Amino acid sequence: MTSTLVFNSQSDSFEEWQALLAPRLPGVQICRDEAVTDPASVHYALTWKPAPGYFAQYPNLKLLVNLGAGVDSLVARDDLPSIPITRISDPDMGRMMASYVLFAVLRYARDIPAFERAQREGRWHYLHPRVPASIRVGVLGLGELGAYAAAELVRQGFDVRGWSRSAKQLDGVRCVNGLEQLDDFLASSDILVVMLPLTPATRGLLNAERLARLPVGSCFINVSRGAVVDQTALTAALSSGQIAEATLDVFDREPLPPGDPLWALDNVLITPHMASVAIAASAAEQVAANIQRLKRGEPLHNLIDPARGY
Ligand code: GLV
Repeated sequence: MTSTLVFNSQSDSFEEWQALLAPRLPGVQICRDEAVTDPASVHYALTWKPAPGYFAQYPNLKLLVNLGAGVDSLVARDDLPSIPITRISDPDMGRMMASYVLFAVLRYARDIPAFERAQREGRWHYLHPRVPASIRVGVLGLGELGAYAAAELVRQGFDVRGWSRSAKQLDGVRCVNGLEQLDDFLASSDILVVMLPLTPATRGLLNAERLARLPVGSCFINVSRGAVVDQTALTAALSSGQIAEATLDVFDREPLPPGDPLWALDNVLITPHMASVAIAASAAEQVAANIQRLKRGEPLHNLIDPARGY
């Protein structure tokens, strides 16, 4: 009996994934939804934010592969089939994320926004460089991506601190955990990097009160999910200067709507949710290997727990 793998994503290349998966999955037909001839043969789905009701057309799905690291939009759905769900967990994706975080942190640590402003005004504006050890960088969330970025920041010599819900130990990082430590952690972050998954426990975690704990003039970077932060409170803190600068790759609504007040703030750098994306060249291998494991009845890697939310 033939098996089919369907691919559904607006932001990933079907041709690239197909070319990489086909040689690794002999006997599996790999196609887009519109090319499926026998929906009953669809056993595997590789998706990123498929439309509501999507899964109902494939009654024999055995594995759902989330084409990305974050599964928040998937587990929030009410039409999720009760089958194993895996996500991409790829060191190359970790490195891509870390490069964005490094860029954003270094931009602040080297006072680049001040020079950008001065240049726009044709003004020579000398600021003496600070040593990285004098800059406290707080990484909020120490999962795979957070831990990778924290290690890169340590290599740059920053005073790196990390917060996570459960206890973690990372070389060179002062780690604290639990909600009771969060206020102190925020208060000691000159640059805060938000890297938490969005779950029921983290939605709205950075509310107005918690944002107010950040040192006056701190810098704020969000590369995880917009809804971890109260965006209205963040906008107010950036307008008042309590938070001096922000680099935002994620928003509570995406695309960020035209006319949103964040667009007009010159102390905010906005990027369109591209800090890290699934990389077919490195991740196809693990997707194919998981499908082979499923066929052999072996335990899958990178399984997510829908109830926990990640
Ligand atoms: C991107 O945001 C991802 O979760 O992979």
